[in-house]
Amino acid sequence: ADTKKVLVLPGDGIGPEVMPQVVRVMQWLEKAGKAKFELTEGLIGGAAIDATGGPLPVDTLEKAKAADAVLLGAVGGPKWDDLPFDIKPERGLLGIRKELGLFANLRPAVVFDALAEASTLKLEVVKGLDIMIVRELTGGIYFGQPRGIETLPDGTRKGVNSLVYTTPEITRIGRVAMDLAMKRGKRVCSVDKANVLECTVLWREEMIKLQKEEYPEIELSHMYVDNASMQLVRNPKQFDVVVTTNMFGDILSDCAAMLTGSLGMLPSASLGAADATTGKRYALYEPVHGSAPDIAGQNLANPLATILSFTMMLRYSFDMMAEADLIEQAIQVVLNKGIRTGDIMQPGATRVGTKEMGDALLAEMDALAAA
Ligand code: NAD
Ligand code: IPM
Ligand code: MN
Repeated sequence: ADTKKVLVLPGDGIGPEVMPQVVRVMQWLEKAGKAKFELTEGLIGGAAIDATGGPLPVDTLEKAKAADAVLLGAVGGPKWDDLPFDIKPERGLLGIRKELGLFANLRPAVVFDALAEASTLKLEVVKGLDIMIVRELTGGIYFGQPRGIETLPDGTRKGVNSLVYTTPEITRIGRVAMDLAMKRGKRVCSVDKANVLECTVLWREEMIKLQKEEYPEIELSHMYVDNASMQLVRNPKQFDVVVTTNMFGDILSDCAAMLTGSLGMLPSASLGAADATTGKRYALYEPVHGSAPDIAGQNLANPLATILSFTMMLRYSFDMMAEADLIEQAIQVVLNKGIRTGDIMQPGATRVGTKEMGDALLAEMDALAAA
């Protein structure tokens, strides 16, 4: 098989703790002769600030562009919270998304049967859940101009951010959502705040137009974001694909994470557009969770969100469906056996640490491969 170039960006907090567990899974695939990976490491976030003075070194960006896919841990932490806004760790993450044009953030919320009771919601509400949140990632209020903090002549301070979307930005994320839905339940719910914000009036109009012109088979519905957040906890199984703006998607996906039992279970893929001439598409895979400073450095973090982000890489960047299936099956077996990190701990289960979760997973991969 051809060699897959993967850039690994562990980042901060629990990032450098969960990443080695993914690397072990990659090494397992290599040993089994299923893939060849060329791994490079890079700095991002606080780790990059400490080493270079900025959260997104040019070297990292160049390595990311040269790679077939990027795997990221998490960035941020109290150590860097008092830095000037423009050089905070989070700017590194936002910067790499923007620089690589990763406009489509896929955040699937899937409930493993074994964890249906680990959710804070009732079993019947979440059992069998499989929804896909498609979050726009390089536009909206995260990037809109004008922005900033200014001091007016009378000494009053004013903070400004702008919610901005253009029609091409809306249409391209709409297409990603509808293409995905075509391979699933053919239902898309577009979440906006069209009763208040003009920008999302445009969003809704463009989604309607896109569905009419290009996706006659898709059943498109619309929901205001306040209602959507309520519906996600009331009856999440009503959704198939949800498509929404950058900030609404950020918030709704953390909410969806708790349906699956823990933020430590939720993976994501951030995808760019295919280059018109080369066909190459930048892709970055990252867990939805952050650097979890409260548990960092104690071997407590759940590595499964990052490992599941890697299986998304196998599916979306490398077309390695069988290998992704194998890893996900092994995760299922591990969970069925009651092996749990603290965040998904249940009565009667066996509590393990980050590394031991990796051990358990590799053992099940061995067993599945031998069977
Ligand atoms: P967080 O996601 O880091 O943590 C929220 C809670 O979930 C914490 O109690 C944490 O212990 C728990 N948690 C998260 N991941 C877990 C895992 N894998 N296993 C077990 N428990 C887990 O969010 P936060 O506390 O709001 O933010 C902490 C830092 O991370 C901030 O600097 C923030 O900006 C940054 N952040 C980064 C990313 C990213 O890199 N993609 C995402 C969100 C937050
Ligand atoms: C996420 C995070 C980031 C975001 C932060 C850390 C910049 O919360 O990936 O969900 O808001 O996009
Ligand atoms: Mn978030």
